[in-house]
Amino acid sequence: MSITVLLGAQWGDEGKGRIADALASEADIVARFNGGPNAGHSINVGGKTVKLHQVPSGVFRLGCQNIIGNGVVLNPAKLLEEIEQINEAGAQATPENLRISENAHIILQGHIALDKAKEKTQGGIGTTQTGIGFAYADKAYRVGIRAGMMRDAEKFGDTVYKRTLEINAQLAAQNAEQVDAEMTGAIYTAMATQIAPYLADTSAILRDALKRGKRILAEGAQGVLLDIDHGTYPFVTSSSATIGGVMTGLGVPPQSISRVMGAAKAFSTRVGKGPMPTELDGEMALRLRGTGANPWDEYGSTTGRPRRVGWLDAVALRTAVAVNGITELALTKLDILTGIDTLNIATRYQVDGRSLDELPSDSEVLERCTPIYEQMAGWTEDVQNCRSFTELPANAQNYIRRIETLVKARITVISVGPEREQMIVR
Ligand code: IMO
Ligand code: MG
Repeated sequence: MSITVLLGAQWGDEGKGRIADALASEADIVARFNGGPNAGHSINVGGKTVKLHQVPSGVFRLGCQNIIGNGVVLNPAKLLEEIEQINEAGAQATPENLRISENAHIILQGHIALDKAKEKTQGGIGTTQTGIGFAYADKAYRVGIRAGMMRDAEKFGDTVYKRTLEINAQLAAQNAEQVDAEMTGAIYTAMATQIAPYLADTSAILRDALKRGKRILAEGAQGVLLDIDHGTYPFVTSSSATIGGVMTGLGVPPQSISRVMGAAKAFSTRVGKGPMPTELDGEMALRLRGTGANPWDEYGSTTGRPRRVGWLDAVALRTAVAVNGITELALTKLDILTGIDTLNIATRYQVDGRSLDELPSDSEVLERCTPIYEQMAGWTEDVQNCRSFTELPANAQNYIRRIETLVKARITVISVGPEREQMIVR
């Protein structure tokens, strides 16, 4: 029984794509269990960066099966676009190597319109405006449309049409622009025929694969701190980005999980609103963010928004490790810290006269927390060509060891540059 889980251990954008791509080389199946087109997983193939949103990161590995699980919300138009992009990049996503759960819920144009309308109001939280929250709301409200219905394209299109009319009533009540229901119905009907061959009972596929000793990688989207239950609510996404999401989002037993890996950046970033105790502004923020000239600079891969940046938050990371049973961390973008004189790590928070060593569960309390920093000496040596831990400058080794002690997890993978091979595996 062997599922390796890869979770984002911060606020998303931890570099899960490239870690998943590396882990996929040892996997038979890569499965996405949560989120949807809000995710942006960048993979470097042949010197070019490809951004995956819904298709799992195993698609660039020959012989690797990819699964979009029931916990995902799927935008069919974006999926077809993505499949085309993958083909252009020299790989293939066909019904042979990509299976989509019949129970995944469909994102409608109306969900996107509702998301956009809400973001224009005071209640906006800085979503990716891809309809995520409203698609999951329909699922929870038991009026969602599941992918399996695409097998009957006419019925699917008609259901989409009817639900769109209901959504239009909501949009009208908000004076927001409505969606062309008839056109949407027609477009979704046409897409159903194209997507139907990909549909499958993916839980059954995964359970069968486990019986046959296959190696599965469960690829998380977003991050622990954006989880609907354990994140900084209400500044979160609408799915389970934590460990429980693997079981519900794929339909696999907990005993099948043999390894829980977290991906974390060597510093912190966040897009959208919500508390971020170690946030920086000024020169150091510009330094960490980059100018946007490189694809790995800190600008949203789904929305292009500049990301908020800050020092590494060991309090948040320690909580992420503890909540999910993370035993190993992949630390990404270590090279970005090269040349910074003094590095800060938040080791505890101070709030209301108390000192906390884990994230408070209330976002309003978190908003008032002041981080207590520990300072560490930086390094000036280029780390991009290091391929083993001992080749790293002594201060970089100290930084990594200190994080391990603070968050109580081993750092087994370290990325030291944007290229596929610029990675240290310990
Ligand atoms: P990956 O998988 C970073 C954030 C949004 C917003 C909040 C809710 O690339 O790490 P949503 O559109 O999901 O309703 O937005 O969650 N968010 C992400 N931030 N990386 C992501 O995905 C994200 N997906 C959603 O910015 O704050
Ligand atoms: Mg992203």
